Amino acid sequence: MLTFKSAIERINQKIEEELKEVQTKEPAGLYSPIIYTLQRGGKRIRPVLALLTYNMYREDLEKVYPAALAIEIFHNFTLLHDDIMDDADIRRGEPTVHKRFNENAAILSGDAMSILAYQYLGNTPTNNLQGLLQLFNQTAMEICEGQQYDMEFEDRSDVTVEEYLTMIKLKTAVLLACSMKAGAMVAEAPAEDAQHLYDFGINLGLAFQLQDDLLDVYGDASVFGKKIGGDIIANKKTFLLLNALCLANSTQKEELERWINQPAPNREEKVTAVTQLYNELGVKELSQEKMEDYYEKAINHLNQVKLNDQLKSNLLLIAQKMMNRDS
Ligand code: IPE
Ligand code: IPE
Ligand code: MG
Ligand code: MG
Ligand code: MG
Repeated sequence: MLTFKSAIERINQKIEEELKEVQTKEPAGLYSPIIYTLQRGGKRIRPVLALLTYNMYREDLEKVYPAALAIEIFHNFTLLHDDIMDDADIRRGEPTVHKRFNENAAILSGDAMSILAYQYLGNTPTNNLQGLLQLFNQTAMEICEGQQYDMEFEDRSDVTVEEYLTMIKLKTAVLLACSMKAGAMVAEAPAEDAQHLYDFGINLGLAFQLQDDLLDVYGDASVFGKKIGGDIIANKKTFLLLNALCLANSTQKEELERWINQPAPNREEKVTAVTQLYNELGVKELSQEKMEDYYEKAINHLNQVKLNDQLKSNLLLIAQKMMNRDS
C-alpha cells in the first residue's frame, strides 16, 4: 500500500511526464499558461485522493492515473477562470495566469485544460467508461452552477447559510467527492462503498471550503499563497459574513453594511475593519465548529466502507491533514 507521501510523489512525477509532451506543442501562447499552472504544484489533494482510494482496492496503480490526472487538470482549469471571476492577482505565491499572461490567455488556456482533462479521462482502461464520464460531466456542471451562485451572491444581501452551503457543495465539495468515487469506480469497488466514499468526500469538501474561507481572512499570505482578504473585498457571502450579519447588533450591522455597500473602499481599511467585526462576533469559532461537524459526518461515512481500518488509514490521515491545513 502506498504512503500519503509516495502518493503525492507519484502524482507529481506523472504530471511532470505529461508536461514534457505539452512542452513540445504549439502555439506556445496556448500551452505556456498550462505548463505555468500545472508546474506550480498546489497540494494535489484531488488526484492523491483518487489514487489512495483506488489503492485501497488494488495495487496495480497504472489504471487510475488517467482519471486522477484528468481531475487535477480540470481543477486547475477552474482556477484559471475563477481567478478572473474573483479578480485575484496571486495564487500559489505567484501571479495568477490572467495577470502573468493576460485575460484571454486565462480563458483559452483554461478551455484547453478542460478539453485535456476529458482526453485523459477517456484513456481510462475501464469497462465502465460511460459511468465515469457521467460522474465527471455531472460534477463539471455542478461546479459551473456553484460558481454562478457564488458570483450572484456577491450582489445579494439576503443569502442564507443554507444557500451558502449548497453553493460550496457545488463549487468545491463535489470535485473532492468525484475524486474518490472515480478512484473507487476504476477499482471496481462495490457500489455501496463508492457511495460512502462519495459522501465522505462531500462532507470533507464542505469542511475544506469552510477552511478556505477562514484562511482567506486569517491565513498567512506567504503560506496560503493567495492575497488575504479577497473574499471580504468581493463581498463573498461566506459562512463568516453571513453569521456576522446575523449576530451583529445594530451598530455593528450598520458598519458591516457600510463596508459592503461602499463602491471603492480602501482595501486595507475594509479588510481590517471587517476582520475586526468578525473577531468581535466570534464567527471564526463558529466556522471551526461547523467544520468539525462535517468532519465527523465524513468519518462516519468512511467508517461504513467495508474495508479494514489499515486499508482506510490513508484516507483518515488525509482527512486529518485537511482539517489542520494552513495552505
Ligand atoms: C482551491 O483548491 C480552490 C478551492 C476549492 C478552495 P486547493 O486549495 O486544493 O488549491 P491547490 O490546488 O492546492 O492550489
Ligand atoms: C473556488 O472557490 C472554487 C472553484 C475554483 C471551483 P474560491 O474562489 O474560494 O477558491 P480560491 O480561494 O480562489 O482558491
Ligand atoms: Mg471563487
Ligand atoms: Mg477564487
Ligand atoms: Mg477562497
